[in-house]
Amino acid sequence: MLSERRVKELSAFLKPRMSKKRYIHSVNVAYEAVKLARKYGADEDKAFIAGYLHDCAKELDTQEQRRLAEQSEFQTEAVELDTPPLLHSIAGAVVVRNELGIDDRDILEAIRYHTTGAPDLPPLAQIIYLADLISADRDYKDVKKMRKAAYESLDEAMLEALSFAISDDVKKGSYITRTTWAAYNEYIVKNKNSKKK
Ligand SMILES: [Fe+2]
Ligand SMILES: [Fe+2]
Repeated sequence: MLSERRVKELSAFLKPRMSKKRYIHSVNVAYEAVKLARKYGADEDKAFIAGYLHDCAKELDTQEQRRLAEQSEFQTEAVELDTPPLLHSIAGAVVVRNELGIDDRDILEAIRYHTTGAPDLPPLAQIIYLADLISADRDYKDVKKMRKAAYESLDEAMLEALSFAISDDVKKGSYITRTTWAAYNEYIVKNKNSKKK
């Protein structure tokens, strides 16, 4: 379990960086991620940290997010760097490493891919992707359905979440990254194979 001191350190870092509303969202994602980690046997402390910090770069100005994203150790797509809503996840992983000295690959990867998803993500990153969608502050039309799916099967919930994200992007005319498509295809195959068994 995370020590009280560690939680205090993290909150001293995070709170001043964001609005009250986003801070509440961050806390909700952290708690949802811990619950999912418990359900699926992932590391609960890492789930808390990644969930809590996932949006830490979101309120930096776009130029700063881009400057940070360019330093990412993870692969990025050129168009991704030109798409402001996608920058904060790439930049967030850089901030967490640079400013908190967190170099745990699972945590960094979960933050980096929480907006786009990616193929072959470990359970922790899937958990953060889903926790961000189903946290207590979310109230879109199908959130109840999504919450139920997340606690039934990670693979099926990821497919549902990615389908939802992709159709929403298409409606808005937004760019869809290659990693999002690849993730979607991965879960199509995985879910088909698991139904055959
Ligand atoms: Fe985010
Ligand atoms: Fe978020």
